[in-house]
Amino acid sequence: MDIVTRTRADEALLEVSELRTYLHTRTGTARAVDGVSLRVERGESLGLVGESGCGKTMTALSVMALVPSPPGEILPGSSIRFEGEELVGAAEARLRRMRGNEVSMIFQEPMTSLNPVHRVGSQVVEALQLHRGLRGREAAAVAVELLAEVRLPDPEVRFGEYPHQLSGGMRQRVMIAMALSCEPRLLIADEPTTALDVTTQAQILGLLSDLRQRRGMAVLLISHDLGVVAEFCDRVAVMYAGQIVEEGSAQEVFHHPRHPYTQGLLASLPGRRSRGTRLAVIPGVAPSPNLWPHGCRFHPRCAFVMDRCAEQAPDLLPIAGSERTARCWLESPETAAAREDTRA
Ligand SMILES: Nc1ncnc2c1ncn2[C@@H]1O[C@H](COP(=O)(O)OP(=O)(O)OP(=O)(O)O)[C@@H](O)[C@H]1O
Ligand SMILES: [Mg+2]
Repeated sequence: MDIVTRTRADEALLEVSELRTYLHTRTGTARAVDGVSLRVERGESLGLVGESGCGKTMTALSVMALVPSPPGEILPGSSIRFEGEELVGAAEARLRRMRGNEVSMIFQEPMTSLNPVHRVGSQVVEALQLHRGLRGREAAAVAVELLAEVRLPDPEVRFGEYPHQLSGGMRQRVMIAMALSCEPRLLIADEPTTALDVTTQAQILGLLSDLRQRRGMAVLLISHDLGVVAEFCDRVAVMYAGQIVEEGSAQEVFHHPRHPYTQGLLASLPGRRSRGTRLAVIPGVAPSPNLWPHGCRFHPRCAFVMDRCAEQAPDLLPIAGSERTARCWLESPETAAAREDTRA
């Protein structure tokens, strides 16, 4: 569709297309994000899942314009649009405004993002000063309100404590409060619960879910756990070797995965094995971003590999009868027809 005739209504909140984020290091170029396209609608939750090293954090950092450079480079042809406005190549002042008012990110390990020598309350106050220009008593009152909103127990007491006096779950709540201080329209949560026990993990995800509904905020949830993402998100994008390999509604992807990699991810979820059997693992190791395999990047580990897979890289192919896509030759019309013939 012509950009000019696009209306606000069909404009996504966030639209990433053909994003390539490479890292130039002494040992070569890591193609960490290699042609990622994804869309997040207003108020929607999209999950981004995949094994360690597949490029999830780099995708998020690219959206936040926080990729360290050097060694990072966002390649020409990459596009990141927020409410229709291109952010790749935008001026630093515009990007600061985006990070301060429109998009917030919470990181993998809250202890590294909180300053250990400052009290929790003063760190939230500082975020409020920075993003909303609040000062003094007003800032302190809003900070306590935010700490209460993220259901930190005894917010007035915790306000005066240091990060090390809080549990991991409480620290993550403080991080969420700080992320909310700018009233973002999109919250990127990068493995927000990885370091937490299962019960606390469920509470934090429940909290994010409530906040999303109450504030009408969109969430991009990054996780290596497809189960977590399926429970929390409307849609899921599965990432492998710097690319999206499957995309669709969380329920469909979780219950009927199409890409062999997604099937492997699901089989390796602890709840999925029958009692007494070993956890299934995807054979082989995740490839290195310096040397992605030729053809389909998953083919060396795939149980359904065909000759074509080693030679030719598949595109994200639409799956007939649904709004889903999978980057797999099994979804090509020829393969599907051949399958039908064999059945006949
Ligand atoms: N500063 C850097 N210099 C060189 N390579 C890097 C740098 N940061 C990340 N990478 C590489 O980029 C690739 C993608 O990393 P990224 O952090 O996005 O993975 P991820 O999917 O978030 O993994 P995890 O689940 O472990 O957090 C990895 O292979 C990583 O080794
Ligand atoms: Mg990561």
